[in-house]
Amino acid sequence: MREIIEPFRIKVVEPIRFTSREERERILREAHYNPFLIRAEDILIDLLTDSGTSAMSAEQWGAMMVGDESYAGSRSFFRFEEKVQEITGLKHIIPVHQGRAAERLLFSLIGGPGKHIPNNNHFDTTRANIEYSGACADDLVIEEAKDLDSPVPFKGNMDPGRLSEYIRQRRPENVPAVMLTVTNNAGGGQPVSMANIREVSEIAHEHGIPFILDACRFAENAYFIKLREPGYADKTPKEIAREMFSYCDGSTMSAKKDAFGNIGGFLALNEDALAERARTLLILTEGFVTYGGLAGRDLEALAIGFDEVLDERYLEYRLACSRYMANKVTEGGVKVVQPPGGHAVYIDAKRFYPQIAPLEFPAQRLVCDLYLAGGVRGVEIGSVMFATRDSETGRETPAQNELVRLALPRRVYTQSHVNYVAEVILEVFERRDEATGLRITYEAEMLRHFTAHFEPAR
Ligand code: F0G
Repeated sequence: MREIIEPFRIKVVEPIRFTSREERERILREAHYNPFLIRAEDILIDLLTDSGTSAMSAEQWGAMMVGDESYAGSRSFFRFEEKVQEITGLKHIIPVHQGRAAERLLFSLIGGPGKHIPNNNHFDTTRANIEYSGACADDLVIEEAKDLDSPVPFKGNMDPGRLSEYIRQRRPENVPAVMLTVTNNAGGGQPVSMANIREVSEIAHEHGIPFILDACRFAENAYFIKLREPGYADKTPKEIAREMFSYCDGSTMSAKKDAFGNIGGFLALNEDALAERARTLLILTEGFVTYGGLAGRDLEALAIGFDEVLDERYLEYRLACSRYMANKVTEGGVKVVQPPGGHAVYIDAKRFYPQIAPLEFPAQRLVCDLYLAGGVRGVEIGSVMFATRDSETGRETPAQNELVRLALPRRVYTQSHVNYVAEVILEVFERRDEATGLRITYEAEMLRHFTAHFEPAR
């Protein structure tokens, strides 16, 4: 097979800034060892997130000029609505400024004390919005997902047996929705199979519970299905995506991912009464129902992004990028979550820095070291983000995994950038024995990873 190449050429470029090791040491100290607090211009290769960081196409930029900025009834909204309906088949399309706004609308309507909402793995803002409403957020991903090395093709699947048991124990009236996140970001960017989507939907529906897809990376998930699930090889990504959505009653989506948007999202629902209440809340805090906190030009660019992301050549290239990066570092002895996900490579920091105890944050240390060594920014997905604290004793229990996610912005970096990142990782790996842990000196009450301060523990 020939080399899979970037299926685009570059028309506009943006310089990236090189810094010296001494500068980076100062910058990291001033950012309290939390790369979220580093200015973006002090980063060379930014793999913090694939969210809102895509390069838009010439067609998307062109469309921004014809965006209709009318407060009510904007033409750009109807384009957006039509495109989202074409892919999802869902009835009510409510635009929002990003995914978590859709989550807030939904969970402030269906959440609340005494309610329980399962997912394969809730993403951090999804979990936080559910818990903020007073409800419980639970993760029911399959057992195999816990083994980072297991090559299971659909490691994002939910365990149907556990779901049935969960609904029986909590009683259906206390489970206002069953969710699935495609792909499973908090679980390593792993896909969910069509069979699992269908089965989870059937279980929810048997109990009269709505089934909601968190569809941020629906196109990447569709392409994994095409590659890995029998019966889908000859279907287009769009046909597969349509089938995925056909099983759900609603969807939240951050269009900052698989729609090449710098901002945007939607809440889509079939139920009229719920949609009506969501629209009322939307007007209260986001904006009128035909813009939801977005500009008309954003809606216009997103409508085009939804088509571009389903292009097969693009998806083939997209999945090749993370696979390529994962293979490069694996060859050098670094352990990453297998098989590689669609949007990111997740390094196992527990095995990278076994000498650092989980509550001295090995993955946060690794994030810092990648920045120091090469100006590369990743994100900790470990005990800084997900440790739990006993409310009585104040004792912390570490997260199950200590991972560093290196997320690939869409259409932004080339293969030589990826080669450089792999070199930096392997350089840090060479000197792994020298690393020591960190301790927290400041943390916020919720979602502490965004703003926490650290210092070297010894
Ligand atoms: N759901 C999933 C699966 C996500 O990955 C995200 C965001 C959201 C919901 C929330 O969307 O950011 O538009 O409000 N994930 C980003 C990330 C931030 O870096 O993985 P948002």
